[in-house]
Amino acid sequence: MANGLLEGKVGIIFGALDEKSIAWQTALKCHEQGAKIVLTNAPVALRMGGIQDLADIIGAEVIPADATSMEDLDNLIVKSQEILGGKLDFILHSIGMSINVRKKKEYTDLNHDWMLKTFDISAISFHKVMQTAMKLDAMNEWGSIVALSYMAAQRVFPDYSEMAESKALLESFARSFGYHWGKKSKVRVNTISQSPTMTTAGSGVKGFSDFYSYSDTMSPLGNASSQACADYCVTLFSDLTRMVTMQNLLHDGGFSSMGMEPDVLSL
Ligand code: NAI
Repeated sequence: MANGLLEGKVGIIFGALDEKSIAWQTALKCHEQGAKIVLTNAPVALRMGGIQDLADIIGAEVIPADATSMEDLDNLIVKSQEILGGKLDFILHSIGMSINVRKKKEYTDLNHDWMLKTFDISAISFHKVMQTAMKLDAMNEWGSIVALSYMAAQRVFPDYSEMAESKALLESFARSFGYHWGKKSKVRVNTISQSPTMTTAGSGVKGFSDFYSYSDTMSPLGNASSQACADYCVTLFSDLTRMVTMQNLLHDGGFSSMGMEPDVLSL
């Protein structure tokens, strides 16, 4: 259903690893709606994933960048503006990784050096991206910056481990930096709090498939898919949501408003 919502807009999408990635689906939908895009991911992910296939489909260039490296981000944002012919209208931060989760450390026995790395990759990178874009004056007026979050920022999901704190930090950066972006150039900054989604990052969480079914049953509309999340990103990059900023927007099929769902008892 292409209706040119992003006609004439240009942006950078972080985090498309494979077809399951939320960023991958978002890139496809943004392209369908008329946007021109630069794709980026960490150098190691570029070697593992199939991002070039996506780039071929949507006619995008791929620029490697470790989102924790200010040097890489500087290079990415300078080059993207050259490729896209000017300032950016949107940025999607779709990045998450926990070393403690990957190494199956219990929450009560975490390695704190790894925890700092997790925060750097999953949350502080969002600040780094925004700081670099601001320093380079790289955003057009009324642009839109979005990052992906999860409700463990507000509520306890025991197996989500230190990613809960990463998401709390991420959401806080969206609010705080959203203030400065709004004042500077009417750019809006929001996070989308997405349902559990079957992706590489998602399924790395312990007991993910049981939790996915639980959440699907708890949500009157079911879990939101990566394609539905991509549609929501399109609306946030479009001119139809210009006055929405500094928000954590729940995209969860109703999960967050539920108290009791009898169908869960029969799972
Ligand atoms: P994914 O595994 O497809 O994407 C995560 C991406 O982060 C990968 O492309 C990976 O290469 C990238 N990344 C990791 N370290 C990086 C670094 N140093 N620099 C640049 N990129 C790096 O998984 P998914 O699910 O699409 O994740 C996207 C976002 O959505 C993440 O922030 C995740 O926490 C969030 N999210 C995911 C949910 C899920 O259940 N899958 C639910 C709610 C939020």
